[in-house]
Amino acid sequence: MKDKLLYEGKAKQVFTVEGEENLLVLSYKNDATAFNGEKKEEFKGKGRYNNLISAKVFEYLHQNGVKSHFKEALNETEQLVEKTTIIPLEVVVRNVAAGSIVRRIGVEEKTNFTPSLVEFFYKKDELGDPLINDAHALLLTDAKEEELVQIKEMALKVNEVLQNLFKEVNLELVDFKLEFGRNASGDIVLSDEVSPDTCRLWDIETGEKMDKDVFREDLGDLMTVYENILTRLEALK
Ligand code: TMP
Ligand code: ASP
Repeated sequence: MKDKLLYEGKAKQVFTVEGEENLLVLSYKNDATAFNGEKKEEFKGKGRYNNLISAKVFEYLHQNGVKSHFKEALNETEQLVEKTTIIPLEVVVRNVAAGSIVRRIGVEEKTNFTPSLVEFFYKKDELGDPLINDAHALLLTDAKEEELVQIKEMALKVNEVLQNLFKEVNLELVDFKLEFGRNASGDIVLSDEVSPDTCRLWDIETGEKMDKDVFREDLGDLMTVYENILTRLEALK
């Protein structure tokens, strides 16, 4: 099935698929990084949790009308996806103030955002992924103005659907990061992953942080938290 290593990122490897030029295999790694790779640690089982959680999330999104690159989980750490060329934007949706926005604009942590905020960051490690505006996104990517509108609409739709999903398992979706890619037909589809690496999830009852902030802020055992998220999602049927 998987053929050549095409690309290796901080959390995943990307492989070509023999005889299938429009498909890729994503292989989730056990590495966790934070602060643009400055903090790094390996966690046994992390690749499995993120692969299985992300697969569940993409399946739920599909059932609720959100198109993505996701095809199927192949095994515990790998998934088959449609090949896309990633648009170098990190599209962040925020429902509640946490993380960088608190430092950037001085809002108090836990402030509710209604309507939810959508922000673009330029995906460029050398620059530390800076916040950019629409004019910058038009300059730096091949996305057209109407496609930026479409990306924001899709991000807000994902937010609506995932707020419901996580609420069902007693988690508040605080914020998350999405990436979009262009497929062989030129259409923009949701790509990359949706996992506790890329979302902030707070337990609705206890307020406990149940995502990569546990690693970023040294709050406890990261794999216990990821296992808990997967268990909650698997209990849904
Ligand atoms: P931020 O508050 O650090 O800007 O993060 C916003 C959301 O995006 C949060 O859910 C974590 C996620 N995120 C990533 O997935 N990758 C990243 O590189 C960063 C900085 C944040
Ligand atoms: N993923 C980013 C990194 O490794 C930052 C983060 O998620 O905090 O550096």
